[in-house]
Amino acid sequence: MSEPGRPQAGPTLDPEDWSELRALGHRMLDDMLDEMARLRERPVWTKLPDEVRASFREALPQEPTPLDAVYRDFQRRIQPYSSGNTHPRFMGWVQGGGTAIGALAEMLAAAMNSNCGGRDHGAIEVERQIARWAAELFGFPESASGIFVTGTSIANFIALTVARTDRLGAASRREGIAASGQNLTAYVSAAAHGCIRQAMELAGFGSDALRMIPTDATHRIDLAALREAIARDRAAGATPFFLVGNAGTVDTGAIDDLDALASLARDEKLWFHIDGALGALAMLSPALRPRFAGIERAESIAFDFHKFGQIPYDAGFILVRDGERHRAAFASPAAYLRREARGLAGGSPWPCDFGPDLSRGFRALKTWFTLKAYGAACIGAEIARSCELARYLERSIVAEPRLELLAPVALNIVCFRYRAADSDRLNAEIAAELQERGIAAPSTTTVGGRLAIRACLINHRIQPEDIDALLAGVLKIGQALDHG
Ligand SMILES: Cc1ncc(COP(=O)(O)O)c(C=O)c1O
Repeated sequence: MSEPGRPQAGPTLDPEDWSELRALGHRMLDDMLDEMARLRERPVWTKLPDEVRASFREALPQEPTPLDAVYRDFQRRIQPYSSGNTHPRFMGWVQGGGTAIGALAEMLAAAMNSNCGGRDHGAIEVERQIARWAAELFGFPESASGIFVTGTSIANFIALTVARTDRLGAASRREGIAASGQNLTAYVSAAAHGCIRQAMELAGFGSDALRMIPTDATHRIDLAALREAIARDRAAGATPFFLVGNAGTVDTGAIDDLDALASLARDEKLWFHIDGALGALAMLSPALRPRFAGIERAESIAFDFHKFGQIPYDAGFILVRDGERHRAAFASPAAYLRREARGLAGGSPWPCDFGPDLSRGFRALKTWFTLKAYGAACIGAEIARSCELARYLERSIVAEPRLELLAPVALNIVCFRYRAADSDRLNAEIAAELQERGIAAPSTTTVGGRLAIRACLINHRIQPEDIDALLAGVLKIGQALDHG
């Protein structure tokens, strides 16, 4: 007998007929794998036609659309216009190519729908496992802590926040920076990624408190200039507290002298943080590993599994040597997040104690699958292969009188240009033409005040033939535009 007023069982969002959904789901999976297997057959990038762009201004749909129609719409209006970073001719910015294994794991994670902010469940144990693997890779102690974040931009911000609380004490979380009366200053090379400056802004220091130290001829931080800047600041009454070493700069891939920076940080009592977005995972390659000597002495490392690690977006990571100091910067008691010794509310500390996110997806699973299925050595070998391709591109440029190499090749980034009178304008046009014709997708940057075509070889699908196609395209388009 049902109690009066008791609601009836109602519809849920699950299908009534699972078999229909299952058939379509299997087709989606087959199509997805077919697409990945045939990447080479399509251009690296196709500009979104105006009418397709305009079609995304449709009103919020109130009524249901059959799922197979939604899927067809995806195939027609969305999938063909991806940014192309899965394609072997994608060489722009710093973007990994992803793998089918990572995509499958992401699908499994989506079905689990885990909220990895906290509580006692398996997904969090997988994330803890990745943190231990990262600690092992970088020579950090077992007591290190780490969590997944969107990317290195936020990981750098977290490191800065940990260093701030460590320097000013727990009360500073309540009182703010100004209450300390200290003028805290931070240091990084002028080649740093813009997210370091942004982290200084977000953390309340202001970017004026960040000293952008000049680089030497190899684009590494100039140690003498760094020492002088620190001394100058101390003499002026400031308190230097944070030093960032680049394990691969965004423009040229230069790796700072991390060991020297670690010693300097120790002597000056600075928090030594590594921006390893681009290069830190090259530690997986025994051949490349020695170039990062000193990384194991850092207090924190920010890096991305979605770049050299080839994990599908997004999978940034922050690793902190001293887990307690890390927790001290973020953990906040709240009645609704009460920890217990048993039950689902057990397992403290939780990932939300180590960063600002409470709701967090299961980024660890695609990383765990990838590292297990390929093995770390295989990922390391792929990274070494990318660097070998970069050296091949470098040699080809040096051997071609119409081209000019603009920076030494430290890892996997090659900056070069077509020689011409109006070279900045011409090379920007060459890059855009290469993209629009779907030949290859390098990006551009400025090196020493000169516009460079920048090829960042971080996608595991790139082969020597793709390097050849890039070069042939640059020469052909460069010649046509220069004499056109
Ligand atoms: C050296 C460096 N630092 C930080 C970042 C920012 O990383 P993310 O895009 O994952 O936030 C990048 C991105 O390319 C980078 O190359």
